[in-house]
Amino acid sequence: MSEDVRLREGGGLSRVLEDYLSDWTERSGIAVEVWALPSRPIPGDVAKAVYATVVEALTNVERHSHARLVSIAITVGRSGLRMTVSDDGAGFAQDSPGRLAGRGLAAMRAHFAEVGGALTVNTVAGGGTTVTGVIPL
Ligand SMILES: Nc1ncnc2c1ncn2[C@@H]1O[C@H](COP(=O)(O)OP(=O)(O)OP(=O)(O)O)[C@@H](O)[C@H]1O
Ligand SMILES: [Mg+2]
Repeated sequence: MSEDVRLREGGGLSRVLEDYLSDWTERSGIAVEVWALPSRPIPGDVAKAVYATVVEALTNVERHSHARLVSIAITVGRSGLRMTVSDDGAGFAQDSPGRLAGRGLAAMRAHFAEVGGALTVNTVAGGGTTVTGVIPL
C-alpha cells in the first residue's frame, strides 16, 4: 500500500514515518534521532502534509547538508501539531543572491499552508539547518 493511502486511511503518521526513517537512515548513512512522534491519530490531510514535508526536508539533508545526524520531533499539544527537523550539517546562506532557488523549500511551506499551518527554515552557515512548522488542530 502506498504511504498516501495508508495516511488517508488513518494508518497512523507515526508508523508510516518510522518505516520511512528506517529506510532513509540505512540508505543515506545519516543517523536519525526521533525525539517524539504523535501517539494519537491526526487528520489525514494534516498527516499527509507533515509526511510530505519530512520527506522533502530529509531529501535536502541528504543532498546538501553533509550532516551526520538529523533530529526529528513531532508533537501534538494545545497549540496544535509542531514539527521540527534539525540537522547538524553545513547550513546555507539563506539570502545569498547566488543560491539557486529550488522547489523544495517552497513546496514544504505550501504543504503547511494548505492545512492552515506555517513553516520556517532557520539556518546558520556551518551550523546546521532547522525546519520548524506548526499546524493548528
Ligand atoms: N538541510 C540543508 N542543508 C544545507 N543546505 C540546504 C538544506 N536545505 C536546503 N539547502 C539549500 O537550500 C537550497 C534550496 O533548497 P530547495 O529544496 O528549495 O531546492 P533544491 O534542493 O536545490 O532543489 P529541489 O528541492 O527543487 O530538488 C538548496 O539548493 C541548498 O543550497
Ligand atoms: Mg530540495
